[in-house]
Amino acid sequence: MNSDVPSLQPDSLPRHIAIIMDGNGRWAKKRSLNRIRGHREGAESVRVIVRACREIGIEFLTLYAFSTENWQRPPLEISALMSLLKGFLRSELAEMMENGIRLNAIGQIERLPDDVVRVLRNTMDMTRKNKGMILNLALSYGGQDEIVAAARKIAAEVQAGRLQPEKITKTLFSNYLYTQGMPNPDLLIRTSGEMRVSNFLLWQIAYTEIYVTKTLWPAFRREELIRILHDYQKRERRFGMTENQIKKAPRGQYF
Ligand code: FPP
Repeated sequence: MNSDVPSLQPDSLPRHIAIIMDGNGRWAKKRSLNRIRGHREGAESVRVIVRACREIGIEFLTLYAFSTENWQRPPLEISALMSLLKGFLRSELAEMMENGIRLNAIGQIERLPDDVVRVLRNTMDMTRKNKGMILNLALSYGGQDEIVAAARKIAAEVQAGRLQPEKITKTLFSNYLYTQGMPNPDLLIRTSGEMRVSNFLLWQIAYTEIYVTKTLWPAFRREELIRILHDYQKRERRFGMTENQIKKAPRGQYF
């Protein structure tokens, strides 16, 4: 374990970190390189951050790797992103097995090219028994679409007479989302300075702490993650309650 990890309080680490990885294009432009080079360096940041989160003891890491809106990008850029994804899955399988990382995908996976779906399903299958950390890749993901899909499934259950409308609660609704069974993110990090959530985990981030850094994703590395975690540990999460109520609540009650 590296020396900067023990400086974090183990009992107030986020269980679930979500990241909007933004700024690959700007990183490349600043260096007069093409956008694909930015994505390639961004894939390197993914490797570094996955490794760091596992080492720190994060249980769930969700990365926004491709949004439903990203399908509108030039075909060459889309195919470069797909091939980076495939390369990542292939090159990291051994390390995922070694470090107990389970891969999961959230989003409209069926829209991805067949060869990517094959590698993705194979990696999910190979890693399914790993218990160390869940790495969630959001692929062809859109938060509003996710909510609409959940509403449709619930409506179909009601129509078929298997569910009464009064039984629809927040907990039930959550069980129809891609993130079913996972805790909501405690911390959302966005790189490259934009103050937006960009259709990411809209339902799940209701009480998530947000940290926006100006660093572009390809330059985002372990040291900055640790700094952000220190900042997170100084924050008081209140979930709509008063300071006193939160101090009296047994730890974990609201997490
Ligand atoms: C945003 O940068 C980034 C993306 C749209 C894709 C994220 C992809 C990677 C980090 C690489 C491959 C992923 C994996 C999981 C190996 P942008 O292109 O929108 O940057 P810009 O806003 O500066 O143009």
